[in-house]
Parts: sequence; C-alpha cells; structure tokens
Amino acid sequence: MNTLSNLAHRDIETVIHPFTNLSAHRNVGPLVIEEARGIYIYDNEGKEYIEGMSGLWCSSLGYGNSELVEVAAEQMQKLSFTHLFGHKTHDSAIALSEKLKELVPCDASKVLFCGSGSEANDMQVKLTWYYNNARGKPEKKKIIARIDGYHGVSVAAGSLTGLPPVHAEFDLPIDNILHTSSPHYYHHARDGETEAEFTDRLVDDLEELINREGAETIAAFIAEPVLGAGGVVPPPEGYFPKISALLRKYDIRMISDEVICGFGRTGNWFGAQTHDYLPDSVSMAKAITSAYFPLGAITIEEDMYQAMLVQSEKLGGFAHGFTYTGHPVGTAVALKTLEIYERDGIIAHAAEMSKIFKSRLDALADHELVGDVRYSGMVGAIELVADKKTRRAFDPKQLVGMNMVSNAQNHGLISRAMGDAVSLCPPLTIKEDELNELFDRYEKALNETTQHVTKQGLRAAI
Ligand SMILES: Cc1ncc(COP(=O)(O)O)c(C=O)c1O
Repeated sequence: MNTLSNLAHRDIETVIHPFTNLSAHRNVGPLVIEEARGIYIYDNEGKEYIEGMSGLWCSSLGYGNSELVEVAAEQMQKLSFTHLFGHKTHDSAIALSEKLKELVPCDASKVLFCGSGSEANDMQVKLTWYYNNARGKPEKKKIIARIDGYHGVSVAAGSLTGLPPVHAEFDLPIDNILHTSSPHYYHHARDGETEAEFTDRLVDDLEELINREGAETIAAFIAEPVLGAGGVVPPPEGYFPKISALLRKYDIRMISDEVICGFGRTGNWFGAQTHDYLPDSVSMAKAITSAYFPLGAITIEEDMYQAMLVQSEKLGGFAHGFTYTGHPVGTAVALKTLEIYERDGIIAHAAEMSKIFKSRLDALADHELVGDVRYSGMVGAIELVADKKTRRAFDPKQLVGMNMVSNAQNHGLISRAMGDAVSLCPPLTIKEDELNELFDRYEKALNETTQHVTKQGLRAAI
C-alpha cells in the first residue's frame, strides 16, 4: 500500500468530512494536502495547485507568511493562553478591539470575540434577543435572513442560513428565524424585469413580511454584502440603500455578515462600503487572521452595550463567552494580519488585481455554456447553463459544475462548485501573472466541461 492509499484508507475509516457526500467519499477517497506556499498548495504526491478559493474564502495573504508564523510562535512562547472571563484581559485583545473599531463600517462601541463565523452569527442572534429583553421589548425577537444566504451551521447560524441542505433533517430552522426573498437576479428575475425593478420587488417582499409578522416582533435583519456559498451574488442595483432605509423605518437592527467580504475581498475593507450601506453591527472571521488561526468577532453598538450593562446589573453578570473568546494567539495573529493589510497596501493591490479578475471573467460571458458572470472585487463565479437563451439550468444530478471543478483540479486549480456556479476567490496577494495563469487553467476546465456536456448530450431538456 503506498502512502496515499494508506492515508486514504485511514481517513475513510476515521474522519467525517464537512459538506461531503460521505457515501461517495468511501469510493472517491480524500485529496491529501501536505503543504502550501504563496498562492499554491501541494498534495502528498507533490502536485501543485493554485488555491483559487483561498481555502474556504479565507487565506487572503496566501500561505507560509513568515511574519504571521513568527507572531504566533512568539505569542505561544510568551503567553499561550489566557482568557477574558471575570475581568481578565491581555494586550492584543485590547489593541485588536481598538483597531477593529477604527476599521469597521459602523458605529461600534465594543468588540466581542469568538472562534468562527458561525459563532459570530450565533452571538448576533443571542445578543439581539438579550438586547430586546433588556429594553423591555420581549416580543421583538424575530430575525430575518435571506433565501440563498449562508451564515454558518451551528443551531442559530444554521437557521439563519437560507440553503435547504443546511436545514434538511437537522430540524432547522429554529423558531423566530424568517427568510425573505433571495437577491439572486439571474435566478429570480421575472421576464423583462430590470435589476432596479427586481430590487423594488425585493424591498416590497421584505416590507410585506415585516407587516405580516408585525414590525413589533422583528428584531434584526442579517445579510452578506455578496452572497457567498449561495453562488457569489452581488446585490442587485440599489438594493442595500433601499433595504437599510426600510429597516430603519421599522427599528430593525441591521447586521452585515462580513465573514467573507471583510478585510478587502470586495476592494474595500468591508463589503458594506463597496455595496453602500451602514449596518448597526458586523460579523467577522476568516480573513481577520488570514486563516492562520481561528478567530471571529462581532461589533456591539453603544445602545446594545448600554442594555448589556443593565442586564449585568440585574442578573449579576454577562453570562456568555467561550473558553477561546479573545484567544491571545488569535488576537496577536489578527493584529499582525491587519498591520500587513495596511502596511503592504493589500486592499489597494486587490482592488488593482480585481480589474484583471473582472476582465477575465467578463471575457467568458459569451461562452456557450456560461449563462451568467458575477463578481465583486476579488470574488466571482460563472454559472453554467444548459440553455443560455432561456437560462435553463442543467439537471442537478448531472453535476456539471462539479465536472468543471474536477477538470480544473486536474489542471492544478482549486475552484468550487455551488450547484453549477463555479467560483473563484484567490488570495488577495496574487500577482498579475499568477492571476492570468489561474484563468488560463479555469478556461481549459470550462472548455473540457463543454466537450463533456456535448459528448454526453446533457443539454437536452428534461
Ligand atoms: C458569510 C459567512 N458567514 C458565516 C460563515 C460561517 O463561518 P464558519 O465556517 O467559520 O463557522 C461563513 C462560512 O463560509 C460565511 O461564508
């Protein structure tokens, strides 16, 4: 047995893989990743791949960044752990909170740390409830998320997620979570409807939901600036300014889930800046440490903080927090990550590279298999369709998107299929020649998928 099959066998018999068909995994086996440098990852047979997805939309500074490695090692030597419970603190938690308050696109009073994006959104749900209890509005508890949104998988965050597979058989969503219309123009626009008209319809849908449920029962609205796992979908024209005005009218807290878009992905520090709105709070994770250490965070606005003070006095304390809330290695790595973003002009570099990203994606718009091309900054996707004219999708069972991802993998490119939307989200540090190489591989994969579709007759209507 060679190393791969030995590892594959051990993996199959011991490891549960998230978002994987566990039954297919028994036959397919794992891709064993062994090391990584810059924008490249290497498997245990030495094959090189461009990490076109930054892992899971997170490794924005690429791999093997020695400054981040050193800061983590130094912090582990100096103080591998301390927590923030019961009045304790440490310098990098304070400095990181100060820095985040400066950067976020909202009026943040305080920062509350956690370990992941799901935990961040879970805390948003809990704190919204806690806040409305404190201000004497115990009936104001429902939280509106969107169909096609992704906010994580834990019980509350998974409920916010608006993708059916995340709910199915897990008994989700829980009570008090509602979903409004998806902002996916390509999928949901009516014949002849302009983007602006589509936006107006979504705003009407939201207002109708609020009125149907009673505004006095609606506490918060959560949205990703750009739908990520829902297929990389930037908002339709004028969407967020109109949605935020509606939320203000009904005293509904607006949460921007910046877990993917935060820290430069869309060409500005936060997606809310690119897509023109001012949330009450943001959820962050992933690129906050460029995925060198698990860390998440949310911002707390002043009136919520005041309510938390009242609750603390009444209840004897703020009874929430994780062992790893503000883990010192995570906060030290995050501080260094933010320093690198600023010092090395990473956000401006990403904005510059996004011009190439955009033009290479736009060039695929006329391709016979490509129904739609979508992007915001350095995150984008093409959507493969059976009929370009009518937007008819392939039968999901034909796994056309997966076929392209697998062709790309053969050519040394990691991409990701969400249905038949095949996405890219490369490290923000990617250079011009690397980005062009990435697209050359992506195009090869697309052309092979076109041949596959033709050969197998997959475009026939079902
Ligand atoms: C927008 C968004 N929010 C939340 C999450 C959940 O983050 P995590 O996987 O760290 O729990 C994700 C993960 O991809 C995400 O894309």
